[in-house]
Amino acid sequence: MIAFKYTPTLSKPFSIVDHWTEHKEKIAEFWWVVLGGIPDNSYKYTPVNKHFSAGFTQELLKDWKALFFEVLTSHLPNDLAQSLQSRVNLIGGNLLMQNDRLIQKTLG
Ligand code: HEM
Repeated sequence: MIAFKYTPTLSKPFSIVDHWTEHKEKIAEFWWVVLGGIPDNSYKYTPVNKHFSAGFTQELLKDWKALFFEVLTSHLPNDLAQSLQSRVNLIGGNLLMQNDRLIQKTLG
């Protein structure tokens, strides 16, 4: 994931990923299933805890989405890219809300 490595704000959280091949397979499967595909693997995801540990914040999500949307628009027709962006906005918002809850819980 060259783009993460060269996006200054995202390079730090993503530096915890040791096995990029496995990470990319897992992420590809995640998006495949989110977009309606039938699962090929039985990966277990724990995204809320993992993102919390990686230091997920609203600002990082903003940068991550900018990168994601750049990739979408460069690979897909406009209408499809737009509809995926809406989906990403919903999932990202949900992740952020659950992350905030975890932060509150940790603070007691
Ligand atoms: C809509 C936004 C995002 C979605 C849907 C998403 C989705 C995912 C998923 C499904 C995984 C695999 C989780 C697992 O193995 O259980 C993952 C891993 C990861 N994500 Fe995200 N992500 C998003 C945004 C971000 C952002 C903003 C960051 C920056 C902190 C980030 C950093 C990471 C890292 C570092 C991992 C690897 C964690 C590990 O293997 O320990 N992600 N992401």
